[in-house]
Amino acid sequence: MSLATVILAAGLGTRMKSDKAKVLHPVAGRPMIEYPVGMARALGSSRVICVLGHQADAVRSAVESRFGAGSIEVAIQAVQRGTGHAVLQAEAQLAGHDGLVLILYGDTPLLSQSVLERLVAGASSTTLTMMTAILPDPRGYGRILRDDSGKFTRIVEEKDATTDQRRINEINAGIYCGPARFFLDTLRSVGSNNAQGEIYLTDVMERAAAGGNGLTVNTILASADEVMGCNDRVDVAKADRIIRLRLADELMRAGVAVRDPERLYVEPGVEIGRDTALGPGVELRGKVKIGAGCVIEQGAVITDCTLGDRVHVKPYCVMSESTIANGVQIGPWCHIRPGSVIEDDVHLGNFVETKKTRMGRGAKANHLTYLGDADVGAKVNVGCGTITCNYDGYVKSRTIIEDGAFIGSDTQLVAPVTVGAGAVTAAGTTVYKDVPAGALALTRPEMAIVPGWAERKRQRMTGGGGNGVAKKPAKPQKSQKKKSPKGRTARRRG
Ligand code: UD1
Ligand code: CA
Repeated sequence: MSLATVILAAGLGTRMKSDKAKVLHPVAGRPMIEYPVGMARALGSSRVICVLGHQADAVRSAVESRFGAGSIEVAIQAVQRGTGHAVLQAEAQLAGHDGLVLILYGDTPLLSQSVLERLVAGASSTTLTMMTAILPDPRGYGRILRDDSGKFTRIVEEKDATTDQRRINEINAGIYCGPARFFLDTLRSVGSNNAQGEIYLTDVMERAAAGGNGLTVNTILASADEVMGCNDRVDVAKADRIIRLRLADELMRAGVAVRDPERLYVEPGVEIGRDTALGPGVELRGKVKIGAGCVIEQGAVITDCTLGDRVHVKPYCVMSESTIANGVQIGPWCHIRPGSVIEDDVHLGNFVETKKTRMGRGAKANHLTYLGDADVGAKVNVGCGTITCNYDGYVKSRTIIEDGAFIGSDTQLVAPVTVGAGAVTAAGTTVYKDVPAGALALTRPEMAIVPGWAERKRQRMTGGGGNGVAKKPAKPQKSQKKKSPKGRTARRRG
């Protein structure tokens, strides 16, 4: 039977104490709503209908930015009158659907695919399935009532339950599957005669179990972890941790070394090759692909990047929207900004920043350097303190450094400018004209040498101690200094 999924996500989630709709809060880096939508798609659901209310546009665009435009249909529930009422809002979308409907919540991100597969596989035109779990602390959930033979009879909400019923610790997860038509037909007639004055989706299960309609209800038991709904930020943090630990387990089973799984922050969908090692506090966001045999050390934050094999990222690097080839060494404390293309065997040392820059094969920039809008050739050596002056306050310009060039320490490259292949820039040079291949570029003001100046100053300041160790001047000597014409001259020249 064909499957449609309805995801209930209209609530604001008051307990989040947030201006943002609950299902937009991230769990393991992804907005909560992505989890049920992703599940529905993984289960082969032909249609995914989200019932939205609060911030419907923001929720829709979050989903579409992940799964593509038109990936979901939206039904609006303007006023939240209960879970059953929410499903009824999808009536128009479900009108022509003669198959099964799977009902998921937008705030239950921990469900595994396998338990949902069992739920869907168990449902048919004559069988409804619902997910339950045994919780040590069932507070807040609807409880599962069974008859003496253990057959499911109905769900009682906490607010409607007696003290005895509240002791039951089998709870309703709120996830169901069954013939769409039966859900809609029943919901149209159940009413809202209950403690909350809502239309309860749970009443559908009670009607089905009541008999006389040729239907059976089967329960599918899930683990306590999986059914957890995220109602406040404490729940979000718990869910976040569970998903991260699951992802760490998956990575380790696939041959990735994880130093401290509790402190690995990865999002679903990252791809990492075997024998790659991830240090504590590593954060991998968005679309990250890392090859084999890499070492990613403590505190590296990598967003939307592709790394080749044997890349060594030293502690505390921040890297985004860039491509890193094989055998590259980066860090510590590098900032690889969007549009960087780092080719094989490049070395980038501490405090190097790149942006929209290609570093050719084997190039090096080992210390304190900014390379923005640059094209750096193979085997180029970029000395300490080099800066591409790529922005004049109006436009960005490019710097080209051709293969094998040697950029001396403290070179400023005033873009647009080209340094030819094999050329050398002397330390401290401001390169504001193109440098031909093989040439030397040098800008360096005349240096003055004043013999004995330092020693004379020391004498003045210390009263003639002359032991080479500068002392804090005593007051009378200070006034003496003012009178000395020789001292003034020397100071000016030095
Ligand atoms: C519901 C179940 C309860 C179950 C619990 C599991 C009913 C009557 N009760 O509780 O048995 O143990 O889920 O979490 O179904 N929503 C809407 N529109 C509404 C109401 C809710 O879209 O009018 C959405 C919420 O945004 C949320 C989900 O439905 O994603 C669940 O709503 P929530 O209020 O948390 O569930 P309860 O009714 O408390
Ligand atoms: Ca809930």
